[in-house]
Amino acid sequence: MRALASRASFLAATLLMACSHEQSALAPDGGTARAIYQLFWFFTGVCMAVWLVVMAFMLAAIFRWRGSSPDPMLEPEDASERRISWVVGAGVALTVLILTIFTFASFLTNKSFAEPRPRSVTIKITGHQWWWQVNYEAHRADQTFETANEIHIPVGQPVKLDFESPDVIHSFWVPSLSGKQDLIPGRYTTLTIEADKAGIYRGQCAEFCGIQHAHMAMYVVAQASGEFAQWRAQQLQSATPPHTDQLRRGQQVFQASACAMCHSISGTNAGGRVGPDLTHFGSRMSIASGTAPNTLGNLTGWIADPQRMKPYTRMPSVALTGPDLIAVSQYLESLK
Ligand code: CUA
Repeated sequence: MRALASRASFLAATLLMACSHEQSALAPDGGTARAIYQLFWFFTGVCMAVWLVVMAFMLAAIFRWRGSSPDPMLEPEDASERRISWVVGAGVALTVLILTIFTFASFLTNKSFAEPRPRSVTIKITGHQWWWQVNYEAHRADQTFETANEIHIPVGQPVKLDFESPDVIHSFWVPSLSGKQDLIPGRYTTLTIEADKAGIYRGQCAEFCGIQHAHMAMYVVAQASGEFAQWRAQQLQSATPPHTDQLRRGQQVFQASACAMCHSISGTNAGGRVGPDLTHFGSRMSIASGTAPNTLGNLTGWIADPQRMKPYTRMPSVALTGPDLIAVSQYLESLK
């Protein structure tokens, strides 16, 4: 009984999750996601109809068998033979027709994704074990910047994503905005996404890429174009200089410890290229690629023992004293 109740509550939670706009292919908010959604319901509807027809035939057969009429197979009659041939022939023809329609519908949906559209923003996304590097591209070098695990886009404008992977195959998937696209080492892949409404859309790596594959999430933040321009201008700035002794201490610890060997903070001498760029770390929603909300407490725990929150993460533990650990965490949170 308890198992049944827990299964029911799991099912209810799953259904409720499908309704939320956080991460669901059944809640499309962008062009290609809507096309996939319509294709999904078309396939499901037709398959349901076929299933109902098959069940109706099966019930009719069971019902007839219970009657007193003789088995038609044992006493074949010309009329019933012909009827059976008709039914089987119609069934085969209908199956071929449905499969052909499915193939065409699928082809047309796919084709619509490839149609060239003017894109306002181009972003290079690099998949790493297990986080997303995000580079905003521009014609001028001083207009480019880097961030991680959070992608801001302007609402109602197609955004081009170019993918790269230096390690293994990952797959970029934000179900409410588009279908999946693999990031394949040595191969160029691309995807155009568009959000119809402002909002926060969760995405997830959709190709098993190692032990922390499940903790390789990202957020897409769709903003009105004015807000997006504001965000962009802020991201182009160098990091906020520390303005208290405690924050200055945090910055010194960061630069003097192993942190600076892997991470960059523009405007400081931390220039590591291995881990995420932390220039505006404090403005992001999550830490460790969507593993936990970005709070001072979570961050302190993460730096103190990364393997605990995300086993096998590439981020090493850095031996820091308690006060240094707190100063570094406070400094990073101040980087808005
Ligand atoms: Cu990256 Cu799964």
